[in-house]
Amino acid sequence: MWDKLGFDEYENFEQLKEACLKCSKCRLRAGAKNVVFGEGNPAAKLMFVGEGPGKQEDEMGRPFVGAAGQLLDKIFAAAGINRQDVYIGNVVKCRPPNNRLPRPDEVEACRGYLEAQIKFIKPAIIVCLGALAAQTLINPQARITSIRGKWFERNGIKILPTFHPAALLRDPAKKRLVWEDFKSLMKVYREVNIEQLTLGW
Ligand code: URA
Repeated sequence: MWDKLGFDEYENFEQLKEACLKCSKCRLRAGAKNVVFGEGNPAAKLMFVGEGPGKQEDEMGRPFVGAAGQLLDKIFAAAGINRQDVYIGNVVKCRPPNNRLPRPDEVEACRGYLEAQIKFIKPAIIVCLGALAAQTLINPQARITSIRGKWFERNGIKILPTFHPAALLRDPAKKRLVWEDFKSLMKVYREVNIEQLTLGW
């Protein structure tokens, strides 16, 4: 699946971003104002992957800046995560019309960009926000309700699926579960940071 870990033709992250911003591999680009490549620290140890840009993200060319993004920012603040320290991206980089779910061929067209982002960033941890990210990075059959909060590992990267913040806006009862997942995340993230401090000399 993602064992190829990205298109080898990109020499660096900037080149990858440039190619992605010019992409028109699928039908989504024609209906989008902006390609939302992702943002944050390109050397982040912690990466978040959502589904795809919504209306505000499409307008601003930035991930998670609408209502779901504002809730994500609140969760970050409560967990002590600094948005500038992590990397935030999406499975598809162009907004699907009327926020419909990205189609399988659109996910496949965009998959190489996500894999190449992961290859360059080399995060120790990836958090899948919602079912599509979990199905793209963990298992195509994954059901988010049964796998959320469980840790997986691929190519040496620890992967934690949790509910998408938009799901929390629809069903606030899920907030408690997501908070459990973030507590587990922060424990592992601290361990990764300590390891880096000790072995980083
Ligand atoms: N939902 C997503 O999955 N990604 C965004 O960037 C915004 C909302």
